[in-house]
Amino acid sequence: MTSPVLDVHDMRVWYAGPNGPVQAVDGVSFALRPGEVLGLVGESGCGKSTLGRGLMGLVPRGAAIDGNVDFDGRALLGLPKKEREKIRGAGMALIFQEPMTRLDPLMKVSAHFTEVLHVHEPKLSKSDVRDRALDALRSLGIPPTRYDNYPHEFSGGMRQRIMIALALALRPKFIIADEPTTALDVLVEAQILSILADIRQTYAPAILLITHNLGIVAEACDRVAVMYAGRIVEQGPVREVFARPRHPYTQALLRSTISLKTQELNSIPGAPPDLVQPPSGCRFHPRCEHAMQVCVDRLPPLIVEGVQQAECWLLASSLTEAERRPRQREEVSVADEA
Ligand SMILES: Nc1ncnc2c1ncn2[C@@H]1O[C@H](COP(=O)(O)OP(=O)(O)OP(=O)(O)O)[C@@H](O)[C@H]1O
Ligand code: SF4
Ligand SMILES: [Mg+2]
Repeated sequence: MTSPVLDVHDMRVWYAGPNGPVQAVDGVSFALRPGEVLGLVGESGCGKSTLGRGLMGLVPRGAAIDGNVDFDGRALLGLPKKEREKIRGAGMALIFQEPMTRLDPLMKVSAHFTEVLHVHEPKLSKSDVRDRALDALRSLGIPPTRYDNYPHEFSGGMRQRIMIALALALRPKFIIADEPTTALDVLVEAQILSILADIRQTYAPAILLITHNLGIVAEACDRVAVMYAGRIVEQGPVREVFARPRHPYTQALLRSTISLKTQELNSIPGAPPDLVQPPSGCRFHPRCEHAMQVCVDRLPPLIVEGVQQAECWLLASSLTEAERRPRQREEVSVADEA
């Protein structure tokens, strides 16, 4: 088996907030091998984008990152800032949700490619830049004749594809796509997914695909990681996790999806907790129908079952009678009443 291109261990990201630090990512571990696509799912506000941006080193002033992030065998967080950014710049790409916020309306598409490629590969000649850019555009279905157009001369879907082409021109080993299809119509969404599938065939980068849409995960991902309140509560191959989810939150997410072909994740009773003061023990306990006393008192262990793993006390084998006692009503917190 090939070694992972990205190996993340116990990563944490805190934002500074008026009421104390927001623990947006709180002890996350996962690995990605070349060519592998990992879907990252979970309700709004559970830390998916923070995790994606944190891997790229894109956190706002006042925020802190901790843990180990090994990229291509090198520990990124231990490196001096300049060196770290150089490795990230050429080796990792982040595809955002809203392409217009990232393309400069006053710059032609060609100028965007020249700028991006020159920063990371200053030795490329003018004609090499052009060849590399046209190759990338072509692979995303943008005709070479459009190379000297301005961003506003393209449709939303085309702009999105240009953004992806810009990211791919650098041949990154790792791509983070943060809800790349949310703002697009179904047809363009299908195109982007088929493009991601093509990219896998040709470049074989590792991809972290952040999405609310479990249908997309079923279609486009090899593995899935389910995030709740800053932690990955379950991960494993898509087929296994969807067929036999171990964690009650994964089960609730799957139940909330009427059909794997459509749906937003919005019908789990209650709401995710405040990340300034998250619930004790298992963060899902105020919403969990199986919650026991131990879930309120102690962080659940990570249980590995074959290719799947989940953090839940239900999967632990040795619990005392008292620990197994159902959670008491007065311990129900605000989220239940939401
Ligand atoms: N710049 C910031 N400063 C302070 N808190 C932030 C900042 N950005 C995000 N947060 C908080 O961090 C938590 C995680 O946010 P994040 O954007 O990572 O969630 P998400 O899972 O990507 O949500 P969505 O599905 O809505 O995109 C939220 O509680 C959010 O309010
Ligand atoms: S640890 Fe307890 S509260 Fe958390 S998901 Fe498992 S059963 Fe529910
Ligand atoms: Mg997000």
